Amino acid sequence: MTVNHFLGSLDFLPEEYNTVFSLASRIIDSPMDYANRCSGRLMATLFYEPSTRTRLSFEAAMLRLGGGVISVANAKTSSVSKGESLGDTIRTVGGYADLIVLRHPKEGAAVLAGEYSPVPVINGGDGAREHPTQTLTDLFTIQRFKRRFDGLTVAFCGDLRYGRTVHSLVKVLARYSDVRFILISPPELRLPDRIKREVKGINPAAALEETTRMEDGLKNADILYMTRIQKERFFNEEDYIKLRDTYILTADKLSVASAEMIVMHPLPRVTEIDYAVDADPRAVYFDQARFGMFARMALILHLLADKEGGDA
Ligand code: NCD
Repeated sequence: MTVNHFLGSLDFLPEEYNTVFSLASRIIDSPMDYANRCSGRLMATLFYEPSTRTRLSFEAAMLRLGGGVISVANAKTSSVSKGESLGDTIRTVGGYADLIVLRHPKEGAAVLAGEYSPVPVINGGDGAREHPTQTLTDLFTIQRFKRRFDGLTVAFCGDLRYGRTVHSLVKVLARYSDVRFILISPPELRLPDRIKREVKGINPAAALEETTRMEDGLKNADILYMTRIQKERFFNEEDYIKLRDTYILTADKLSVASAEMIVMHPLPRVTEIDYAVDADPRAVYFDQARFGMFARMALILHLLADKEGGDA
C-alpha cells in the first residue's frame, strides 16, 4: 500500500502545489461548500515542540471541513515520556486517525514516521530541517499577492542557519526561472552550504547573494522574508543574546523599499519587526497566517482524496 505523505517541500511538483492552491482559493470563495467534506474523518496532531499557528491552523482547518481532531500538544503528557518509540506511537495513532500531523525536535523524525504510518503523515516541522506546510502557506501567500513565482527577488533575513521555514521555501522557489535570492544574516547564521548546494542543484541559474546588511535586501527585493533568531536551537544563551537584535525592521528602514515589496514572516515574531510596521500595507504576515489555514484545508482534502483515488 502506498500512502501519500507530505514530508518535505520538494515532495510536491509545482503542478501539485498549483492544484492545492486552486482548491484553497475555491475554499476562500465558498467556504460553506466545503463545510462537511471531512465529516466522519479524524486528524491527529502530535506536537512535541511548541506551536501556536501550525497546530491551531491545522485543527481549525479540519474542523472547518467538518472533521474531528485528536491532539497531543505536549510530549510530557504523552507516552513518549514513558519511553515509547516514535514508530510505536505512529503505528498506534495511525489506527485511530485518518491523517497525522507531526512536529518533532529531531531532524528526520517525519521521514521515520512516514515509514511506520498506515495513514498520510504531514511534517509540521522537524528540528531545523524542514517545514513544508509553512512553504505551502508562503507560496500561496506569494501567489495571492504577487500572482507569479517567476522572476522574483526574494530577500531572506535573520536566522538562515536554523530557520527551517527558509530551508524548505528556498528550495521550492529555486525551481522558478529568473529567481534571485538575497541572503541577509550575521556570519554565524548563514544559510548552510548543504542547502546552497541543493538550490544550485535544482537551478544552476538561481542567483544567490550573501550579505550582512539588511539595506541590500530592502532596496532590491520583491519579497522580504523576515525570520526569528531560533533561540531553542542555540547551545548557549549568550550566543543567542549576542545575535538576537541584529536585524530590526522599522517603518523608517522600510521607507527605502519599493511600494510593491511585501514583508512576510512565518511568525512568531520577537524583536525583528517593530510593531509600527504592522500598519504598513506591505506587511502581510497576518494575512499569511490566515492564508495558511486555507492552504491546509486544501492540503487535507488533497491528501485524503488521493488516498482513495478520488477527487478533492
Ligand atoms: C516557524 C517554525 O516553527 O519553524 N513557525 C511557524 O510554524 N509558523 C518559525 C519560527 O518558529 O520562528
